[in-house]
Amino acid sequence: MDQYAVFGNPIAHSKSPFIHRLFAEQTGEILEYAAQRVAPEGFAAAAQAFFDGGGKGLNITVPFKQDAWRFVDQRSPHAGRAGAVNTLAMQADGQVLGANTDGIGLLDDIQHNLGWQIEGKRLLLIGAGGAARGVLQPLLEAAPQAVTIVNRTAAKADELAHEFSDLGAVTVSSFSALQGQQFDLLINATAASLHGELPPLPDHILSDDACAYDMLYAAATTPFNAWATQRGARAVADGLGMLVEQAAESFYIWRAVRPDTASLLGIVRAELQRQSVAS
Ligand code: ATR
Repeated sequence: MDQYAVFGNPIAHSKSPFIHRLFAEQTGEILEYAAQRVAPEGFAAAAQAFFDGGGKGLNITVPFKQDAWRFVDQRSPHAGRAGAVNTLAMQADGQVLGANTDGIGLLDDIQHNLGWQIEGKRLLLIGAGGAARGVLQPLLEAAPQAVTIVNRTAAKADELAHEFSDLGAVTVSSFSALQGQQFDLLINATAASLHGELPPLPDHILSDDACAYDMLYAAATTPFNAWATQRGARAVADGLGMLVEQAAESFYIWRAVRPDTASLLGIVRAELQRQSVAS
């Protein structure tokens, strides 16, 4: 049976095996998908062993997306530029292809599942780490009016804006300089919600019609989404839809079959809630 896995650390709560088993069931594809915890310095050796053993494809999560970028033989254009890879696929010629499906997953969720518009909108991207880097190109390709990047460490926001400035209007702001500006779509790509924290955002930066998206997900409302709701956001969403959509894109790269995600989102949400009650 074709073998797939997700590599990360920690990995115990990964939803990827659950999601890919749903995809396999739905599409009739026959495969196995496991979760593997990899030691911090052990990525390349573990990935090599996986493919030497006949493995067909990997998903990569925190903190190995940059290691995966270095490991692969070829990169898709998005992955090449992002500097991060979340999907590895063994090719017929024995080369390992690296792709990054996070950006397309985010766009699919925002535009198709949620029906929010990006084109022409004023977008605030909060964070400048790997998560922000992975989605900036597809976001710019969706033709927002402008993207403003804000990050605790200003130098990282400057670097990111500089690297992607040829793809559209990207500017940088400090948190305090956001005061007086307004945004239609706010995307939280920081790890702050993981620690129950909130980036230091000023109060009046949501336009009348603003939507807020937290790329992290949780059974309960994230601090960022609670903040946005209290400030009058028209709609908020967490990153579970993005997780399902990036997984669907990986599945397509591996199997050339596209799962129907719409019918599965509710099942994955219910599983997240079940696990949170059980733990
Ligand atoms: P990832 O690959 O998941 O993006 P990362 O590269 O460590 O992880 O980046 C985490 C992001 O969350 C960064 O933008 C980080 O800000 P810094 O670049 O200043 O470190 C941001 N972040 C983490 N905790 C935060 C907090 N409590 N408040 C605001 N930003 C936070």
